[in-house]
Amino acid sequence: MTTYLSGIQPSGFLHLGNYFGAIRQHIAATEKPGEHYYFIADYHALTTVRDPELLRTYVREVAVTYLALGLDPERAVFFRQSDVPEVQELAWLLSCQAGMGLLERAHSYKDKIANDIKPSVGLFYYPVLMAADILAYDSTIVPVGKDQQQHVEMTKDMAGYFNNTYREVFTLPEAQMADVAAFQKVPGTDGRKMSKSYGNAVWIFEEGKKLKKAINQIPTDSRPPEEPKEPDELVVFDLLALFLAADELEDWKQKVRAGGEGAPGYGHLKMRLVAAIDEHFGEARARRTELLDDPAELDRILAKGGVVARERACAVRDRAFSACGLR
Ligand code: ADP
Ligand code: TRP
Repeated sequence: MTTYLSGIQPSGFLHLGNYFGAIRQHIAATEKPGEHYYFIADYHALTTVRDPELLRTYVREVAVTYLALGLDPERAVFFRQSDVPEVQELAWLLSCQAGMGLLERAHSYKDKIANDIKPSVGLFYYPVLMAADILAYDSTIVPVGKDQQQHVEMTKDMAGYFNNTYREVFTLPEAQMADVAAFQKVPGTDGRKMSKSYGNAVWIFEEGKKLKKAINQIPTDSRPPEEPKEPDELVVFDLLALFLAADELEDWKQKVRAGGEGAPGYGHLKMRLVAAIDEHFGEARARRTELLDDPAELDRILAKGGVVARERACAVRDRAFSACGLR
């Protein structure tokens, strides 16, 4: 049985990088045969979000974002991480197997402290909790962005140590990378990787004037439209590539390469990008509004997912406890 599992942190409003690097792939995966678990990693978010009201808002936003974009809670078990406290018990068992060296090699920890996130014990332990999330449901496939690949490798290491020390309790998962065009990373409005921590993110549900304003910030230069340019060097094309059909994209690229009269200027390209974003997310925006109007239904969906997930995690926890002598 193939079991897909992934999580996303409620540490901000979700942006186009999250959509193309993670969410879209999560939702598409639910069409495949197998079981599907998707959760909101609220325990993990405590490493960075320290305002309780804000955390609640972000959890609700992540839930509404997935549902509005098409996640069907009948096909996927959709839940809050903290509704399954057994992952904490599993994390402890794994932490007693994981060497310090394994965790010290985590790129994400090093990147985060380099970006001034407080180096708490929780931040360091983060990959252990993530390993527990993955192992708690006997997951076999973990769709994640490239930055999370190492955490899945670390999960395999921790599961392997446990299985070797005791007996085969944990199923070893495989990471599955998102196919985010050639560059792997969705660029933000300043050309760096789009990230909520860089202030260069475009929120998935941005619209109207604010959307135009965000897109207008994409870096361009003062070369006139007539001057031939290499489209692959322009950030606006990296973003257009995510939304346009291949033939339309090629058409724009050829015009920009050729230059001369009739070649589109930067403003024109940005307008096309705004229209493409509107087309892509128009329906989802409307669904988001409906979902926000019915908070009880949202709670019901998450609570229901939590019960199903917890039952599964309890069985795995019992297996692990019994293997190591806690029962
Ligand atoms: P942020 O950098 O905004 O804090 P997260 O680290 O919370 O984003 O990322 C959540 C998910 O979205 C991860 O699976 C990550 O790989 C993906 N992701 C985030 N930003 C990008 C991006 N710019 N391009 C592609 N994928 C991204
Ligand atoms: N660390 C992941 C992120 O920041 C979120 C996450 C937590 C996760 N637990 C997980 C992803 C388990 C996949 C599987 O994006």
